[in-house]
Amino acid sequence: MKPKFVVTGGAGFIGSAVVRALLAEGADRVAVVDNLSSGYLANLEQVQDRVETHVADIRDYDELLDIFTGARFVWHLAAIPSVPRSIADPLPSHDVNINGTFSVLRAAHDAKVERVVYAASSSAYGDTLVLPKIETMTPHPKSPYALQKLVGEYYCNLFTENFGLETVALRFFNVYGPRQDPSSAYSGILSLFMKHLLARTSPTLFGDGNQSRDFTYVEDVAALCLKAARTPGVAGRMYNAGNGGRYTLNEIWAMLQQMEGVSLPPHYGPPRAGDVRDSQADTTAAVTELGHAPRFTMEQGLRETLAWYRNAMV
Ligand code: UD1
Repeated sequence: MKPKFVVTGGAGFIGSAVVRALLAEGADRVAVVDNLSSGYLANLEQVQDRVETHVADIRDYDELLDIFTGARFVWHLAAIPSVPRSIADPLPSHDVNINGTFSVLRAAHDAKVERVVYAASSSAYGDTLVLPKIETMTPHPKSPYALQKLVGEYYCNLFTENFGLETVALRFFNVYGPRQDPSSAYSGILSLFMKHLLARTSPTLFGDGNQSRDFTYVEDVAALCLKAARTPGVAGRMYNAGNGGRYTLNEIWAMLQQMEGVSLPPHYGPPRAGDVRDSQADTTAAVTELGHAPRFTMEQGLRETLAWYRNAMV
């Protein structure tokens, strides 16, 4: 029997957390679609006997149709992430994030999948005058990545309205935690902080370091992904997937130095193009309509993450 659950980008940092959450909840098997462009099979090592891995590109409709046939839910997390990468080289992310998402939705529709949960991005809001950011605000994407993710949201809604495929889009807010890859110039800031902290080197903050983010622990996001698939009556909707808090980079780096008992003043560099200044989620809709219940405070999440990197980097 083919798995009922499919995760695109399932070998990635967030996708593999969704796979683990599904298996922990009792799923027999989960299918993963990943071209390993930024994912790693090692992320699925502990659960590999219950994972069916397809090394495939999401732009390959025929392959997706075959994998999706018989599936109930698809979590679509495969993407080329990163705001600065999309500015440095917009074509690949345009193709994968927009055409790939279209291909996933088309294949899910044709395979008669019950619902697709789509990883959207908080970057779609851009700089808003008011915080926290709420779903009813007009989007102002500031980078190709932000726009691409927004187009994916609109496509999800269109597939629900025009073609009857149930979709739910979740705007992720700066997800962090174990397995986030710190090896690239485009890596998420908290993975870079972990690497620097353990190597006892100073990170470079772009701008004054007072830009703020709603850092959200990966297990909380994965739990919400599962709820978004199962909640009735929300097809076609978009929800913020954040923690609801807001910390500056300077604050987080100070907390981490304190945890380790070290003093490593950061370097400061020029601001980064396409960067949003402040980001914080209004989580009311996700809490009341999907049952979102983040469990990790910033400090707990940082401690868990630090412990994982300490272990992984020896
Ligand atoms: C953005 C999106 C997020 C999305 C992610 C995908 C916003 C508000 N959020 O995250 O929803 O999932 O892209 O990649 O747009 N920084 C440094 N030094 C470094 C690296 C980064 O100071 O070496 C700064 C950046 O300039 C930025 C902050 O850290 O201000 C966070 O950057 P990053 O982790 O790349 O994520 P966002 O671009 O915020």
